[in-house]
Amino acid sequence: MTTSKNHLGKQKNRLILQRMNTEIIHTGDGSCTLRNECFGETYHSINGAVAESMHIFINLGLRNFSNRNISILEIGYGTGLNAMLTFIENQPLGNTIFYHGIEKFPIGTETFMQFVKHTPYISEKLDDKIATKFCDNWDSEMEISQNFKLQKQKIDFEAFSPALKYDLIYFDAFSPDTQPEMWTMENLRKIINNLTDNGIFVTYCCKGILKQNLRNLGMNVRRMPGPKGKRHVIRATKDTNISL
Ligand SMILES: C[S@@+](CC[C@H](N)C(=O)[O-])C[C@H]1O[C@@H](n2cnc3c(N)ncnc32)[C@H](O)[C@@H]1O
Repeated sequence: MTTSKNHLGKQKNRLILQRMNTEIIHTGDGSCTLRNECFGETYHSINGAVAESMHIFINLGLRNFSNRNISILEIGYGTGLNAMLTFIENQPLGNTIFYHGIEKFPIGTETFMQFVKHTPYISEKLDDKIATKFCDNWDSEMEISQNFKLQKQKIDFEAFSPALKYDLIYFDAFSPDTQPEMWTMENLRKIINNLTDNGIFVTYCCKGILKQNLRNLGMNVRRMPGPKGKRHVIRATKDTNISL
């Protein structure tokens, strides 16, 4: 029974991988995103991929830290856009960063390079040699610069069990309507448990159930204004006064 379930699971994953056709599409701010046919979703907002990532992950997340040693966990590494923006935008902030991105379906190098080429905000700031490091060498730690280490781990979030404490979590899975399994209490608990005191969790999703789950996990949840085309997003901080 278990074997046949595993077999079916593997077959399903293979089918998903075979159908992981992604197409590059332009978004409202002149940057690109990918549209994933299998999930029927884009990786970023069509109103502006860079604008969205910059607003949610950089402005509401990264910019709370300066001149510190921090570790960042990203759920759903995708194109690496959040990682590349973090690298670029951290320069004036002066943090030393360990960035851990997890992804079940890494995109190929060709798609990645196309994405970078058609996203001027990135291609004008990162040369190909540096950009490539954001898509090569999965599962090993890479030094992008003296103050930025990157580990891209190919793993299913369900199977992921964090061994480190993180100061900042970028939760960038496909939507709860498409992938409810990514947003379950169990999955949130395992990463929130590994958030440092006063650590920050940011995501584009503002559903009531997510807010409630985060509150139940002891988080101080704030609804923040969203980027263009999205009214609200969430920034939650670990409230050190509440025990889980
Ligand atoms: C909204 S996209 C992420 C966009 C990405 N942060 C970026 O900057 O390009 C969601 C990502 O979650 C990944 N994903 C889907 N199911 C997953 C799973 N079970 N475990 C880990 N990653 C998964 C998808 O392949 C996709 O790359």
